[in-house]
Amino acid sequence: MSFSDDLVQWYQNNKRPLPWRDTHDAYVIWLSEIILQQTRVEQGLPYFYRFLEKYPDVGSFAAASEDDILNLWQGLGYYSRGRNMLKTARMVQEEYGGIFPESYDQLIKLKGIGEYTASAIASFSSNEAKAVVDGNVYRVLARYFGISEATNSPKGIKTFQLAANDLLNKQNPGLHNQAMMEFGATLCKPKNPACGICPVREGCYALANNVIDALPIKLNKVKIRERYFNYFLAADEHTLVMNRRNDKDIWANMYDLPLIETATLLPPEELLALPGLTELFGDTIKIDEIFPVKKHVLTHQRLFVRFIKLQKQPIKLKEEWFNTDINNLKKLALPKVIFIFLKNIFNL
Ligand code: ADE
Repeated sequence: MSFSDDLVQWYQNNKRPLPWRDTHDAYVIWLSEIILQQTRVEQGLPYFYRFLEKYPDVGSFAAASEDDILNLWQGLGYYSRGRNMLKTARMVQEEYGGIFPESYDQLIKLKGIGEYTASAIASFSSNEAKAVVDGNVYRVLARYFGISEATNSPKGIKTFQLAANDLLNKQNPGLHNQAMMEFGATLCKPKNPACGICPVREGCYALANNVIDALPIKLNKVKIRERYFNYFLAADEHTLVMNRRNDKDIWANMYDLPLIETATLLPPEELLALPGLTELFGDTIKIDEIFPVKKHVLTHQRLFVRFIKLQKQPIKLKEEWFNTDINNLKKLALPKVIFIFLKNIFNL
């Protein structure tokens, strides 16, 4: 038996009896799918019944006012779903004579209906061969096939859609899609999936390789930027060289030390061999001490900060560098990581 056959057989024996599963009416399926976007089945069920009772067909829905719809929607959140539904119902009433479309190409043009919802309605109502891909499906595919691309990267999105299309049972796409979603929702769950009773455990990559908790992979929406700051302390008994930061970066207009930023963490000998270094500090630069790298976490950046103490000698000053008295340090606005370092060095 194929993956799809195993899954469909499991589905037919184990599915939850949900009201939108007994119908091929595209209007009813649309109602359920929009309610179930961003909403759990248990929470959505009473709303589904209320809407269907008050608006048994798309014509009655289209005749409602926005206030009526939003009132009935109250408590479900994401109210644009309700507003879009009204726009769609009116469009169906006007353009399709009140007959809810069943084809993917028509559905995708309606308000609030994206690829997933269009595939779901088309396959459940008319058995059109469109594979659904939602969070549940990402999880099932990533684990079963060992797909390690991120579900929210452009390449990953393509990979998952292709895998889902490949897998689709073209004879019975509606049943296949329902089975995939039910399987993801009730067995192949994000946490503690029920691998012990899984109907497709034999072929599962993640189970065989013990990576169930690691898949699927989703990239952080806000990417944390890693930066490597190498600070140079050029000081004598009374003075040190400071740097005034610009207003385009973190710590805008505050004060730190002469800095060389590198793209990676360089070993000290590579860092000290950088051509820029002798330009800044002269050919005769001598190192007194290299302090261990410290991690410093900001909201969207991770800094790896290393301090390098130079042997006492005057250095050529860049425009934003200046000599200042150690006693003056407390008057300057210093980032915390700089302040702590200087405090320790100079017993401030
Ligand atoms: N979540 C979204 N669509 C669903 C459906 N048709 N059945 C169960 N859960 C769902």
